[in-house]
Amino acid sequence: MHVDQKLNDPTFFATSEYYRLFDRMRVEDPVHWTQSPDARGYWSVFRHADIKRILNEPERFSSEREGVMPVIDHAMAEIAGEAMGVGENVLTIDPPRHADFRKVMQAPFLPKALADGEVRTKELIGEVFDQLPAHGEIDLVSDLAVRIPMAVICDILKIPREDWEEMLGWGKMAIGGTDPEYQQGTAAETVSRGFRLMYDYSLRRSSERRGCPFSDPFTLLANAAVNGAPLTPSQVAHNGVQLMLAGFETTRNAFSGGVLALLENPAQMALLREDPKRLRLGVEEIVRWSDPVISLMRVATSDTELGQHKIRADDRLLLWFPSANRDEEVFERPYEFDITRHPNLHLGFGAGPHFCLGGPLAKIEIRLAMEELLERFDGIEITGPVERVQSSFVGGLKHLPVKLKPRARTLN
Ligand code: HEM
Repeated sequence: MHVDQKLNDPTFFATSEYYRLFDRMRVEDPVHWTQSPDARGYWSVFRHADIKRILNEPERFSSEREGVMPVIDHAMAEIAGEAMGVGENVLTIDPPRHADFRKVMQAPFLPKALADGEVRTKELIGEVFDQLPAHGEIDLVSDLAVRIPMAVICDILKIPREDWEEMLGWGKMAIGGTDPEYQQGTAAETVSRGFRLMYDYSLRRSSERRGCPFSDPFTLLANAAVNGAPLTPSQVAHNGVQLMLAGFETTRNAFSGGVLALLENPAQMALLREDPKRLRLGVEEIVRWSDPVISLMRVATSDTELGQHKIRADDRLLLWFPSANRDEEVFERPYEFDITRHPNLHLGFGAGPHFCLGGPLAKIEIRLAMEELLERFDGIEITGPVERVQSSFVGGLKHLPVKLKPRARTLN
C-alpha cells in the first residue's frame, strides 16, 4: 500500500506498523504532502521539532479554522465543525480568545485542587477495582481502563452514576467512530451522533446549574462571562463535552497501554514493584509510549515555510504524535520503554497554549491506578488477542484480555 493510503486509513493504526513508516518518513520526507480522499491534500508532519513549533505558533497554525480532528474526507469534514463545536470549544479557539475560555474552566484542574482531591480520586479508583469479578479474568480495557477515568471525571463534573454507562457508549461513538466495532451507520454518522448525544446531555446538565453556587466545571461554565458577556448555552455545552471526552477517552489509552508495556517489559515491571514511587517519573514514559493521541490537525493562516516546503495559507497539516514521541533526535533509545527516562520531552500532552488542561489529573489517575493494580495483584497474564482501536485520531487499545492473580493476604 502507498504511504498516503496508509496515512488515510484508520485500520492501519490498529497495527503497530505505523512506527516503521514514521521512522522512514522522519528521515526521507519529514514534511510530506499527502493526497487525501477529499482531493484537497494535507501536510503530514513527522518530526518532534516541527510539531513542537506548530503547537507553539497558534496564530500561524490555527485550531479554529477547521478544528483539530483529522478530517480528510468529505463526510467527516461536513460533520466535524458542528460536532466538536469549532470556535466554541476551548480546544478549537485560537488566541487571544482561547485564554479567556481556558481561564473559565481551569480551576478544578490546577495542581492545588488536584492535590486536595487526591484522596477522593484514590477512593473512586479503589471502588472500580472492588467491582472486578473474583475469578480475575477481565478485559483490562473495558473493565478497568475505561472505567477509572470515567469515574474520576464524572465525579469532578458531578455526573450521577446512573448516567456513566450511557456516557461510555456515546464517548466510543464520538471518538472511535472510525472503528467498525463502535459504528452505528457510517463513520461520520457515528461520530456525529456520539457528539450530539453528549452535547444534549451537557446542555441539560449545565442549564440546570446556571445560577447555582457550586464549583464543578459545568456550573463554572454556566455562570461564566468572557469580556462581560455570559457564555452562550452552546459554548457552555461544547466545553462540557470537551471535558467529558478528553477526561476519559485518552487516559484510558495511556493506562491500558502502560499496563501492556509493563507486561511486555518484565524488567520495568520489576523496577516498579520494587519501588512504586518510580511511577511519579514513570507516568511520563507511559504517556510517551502509549500514543493516546495519534494525530491532530492545524490549518495555516498565512504563507510560511516548514522544512524545505512552502506552506500556503489554508493548507491543512496533520501532526503525527507517535512519530514525535519516537524521534531519535530527541529521545535516546526511543524504542526502549524506560520508566526512569529523564528528561522526557514527549509531546503526548501537546505543547503551547493548548497544552492539555487535564494532564496533571491524568498523571495522578494513571499513577494511582497503577499503584492499586500492583498492590492488589502479583500476577497479570495476557490471556487473549490484544486489539487496538482503528483510528488515526485518538488511538490505543480496544481489548486487553488478562487474568489477574490476587496477592495472597497475610494475617497479622
Ligand atoms: C493521558 C491522558 C491525556 C492525553 C494524552 C491528553 C492529550 C491532550 C493533547 C495532546 C491536547 C492538546 C490538543 C491540541 O493541541 O490541539 C489536550 C488538550 C486538552 N485536554 Fe487532554 N489529554 C489527556 C487527558 C485529559 C484529561 C483527563 C482531561 C480532563 C479534563 C483533559 C482535558 C483537556 C482539555 C480541556 C484540553 C484543551 C486545552 C486547551 O485547548 O487549552 N485531557 N489533551
